[in-house]
Amino acid sequence: MRTMIKIAQPGAALEREVTGESLYWSRRQFIKAAGAGLALYGTGLAGCDDGPAAEAAPGRKLLTLEAKPSALSSAEEPTDYQDATSYNNFYEFGTDKEDPARYSSELITNPWSVEFGGEVGKPGKVGLEDLIDRSALEERIYRLRCVEAWSMVIPWIGVPLAGVLKSREPTSKAKYVAFRTLHDPEQMPGQRRPILRWPYREGLRIDEAMHPLTILAIGMYGRELPNQNGAPLRLVVPWKYGYKSIKSIVAIDLVEEQPPTSWNTSAPREYGFYSNVNPEVSHPRWSQAKERRIGEFRRRETLPFNGYGEQVASMYAGMDLKKYH
Ligand code: MTE
Repeated sequence: MRTMIKIAQPGAALEREVTGESLYWSRRQFIKAAGAGLALYGTGLAGCDDGPAAEAAPGRKLLTLEAKPSALSSAEEPTDYQDATSYNNFYEFGTDKEDPARYSSELITNPWSVEFGGEVGKPGKVGLEDLIDRSALEERIYRLRCVEAWSMVIPWIGVPLAGVLKSREPTSKAKYVAFRTLHDPEQMPGQRRPILRWPYREGLRIDEAMHPLTILAIGMYGRELPNQNGAPLRLVVPWKYGYKSIKSIVAIDLVEEQPPTSWNTSAPREYGFYSNVNPEVSHPRWSQAKERRIGEFRRRETLPFNGYGEQVASMYAGMDLKKYH
């Protein structure tokens, strides 16, 4: 007899969190109203003058990164740093929004390498320092829209994924790109439970992966990525729901067939392969028409392709986006 494994979903977590979330927002509002600012929130490190980076990652000093501004940046005000580093989804460290910041500080991110495989002329392991040219770093301020109907604006630091892939010399059979997160239950306590089928996997079609908006990020807000945000290397695809932006990547394969992805495998009706932000396609359990920007009370209208339609819609011309959600 087959054993049934109960899979937690972002949605299931959301339902459980409804109270938690409203408490969260009222707590933020209280702190703002009290004029107490960031120093009092969460960490208990008030008075520490080493800056917010030290608060967000007690296990690791986050180095500053030089990056040139990008013309592809959004003009919006970035989300508060403390919010962006304390309200996270990173199920390898637990399903509560505070878990990643609480339990990820011991993750060892140096040394780090990424293994390339599949349809490439140059397979094999590449150390992070050789993979990302630090003199070419760009700052990309992007809106990111989570499937759970919240959004944020983050100044990411990274490089276009296209250049990294081209350096591995994809063959003509490379039609998709498959990404994999580190699998190490000792360092990632969430992996000791079958929340998802580990390791976390994501995928893109090759034209999406090569699109100039798609980046591999190693930093945010002028510094290296905190562990809870996917250190030392994550994907950022701003026109897709946040779960496509896979964290702590250790493997990238170029492949001929559409690869399996964690959420699509767990709940195919709820999470499609494409996962383009689409206010007209509801999640089976809630609408995607509106979103709440972290730090705001009022809800905003969700835009098709998260507002990046002008740049990306042509990649999906002729496709039924309800079917290929
Ligand atoms: N990557 C891994 N490996 N594991 C995860 O649980 N969560 C995803 C994505 N990448 C996730 C992941 C989801 S659901 C979202 S919304 C974003 O990361 C959240 O990124 P943030 O915590 O930096 O805001």
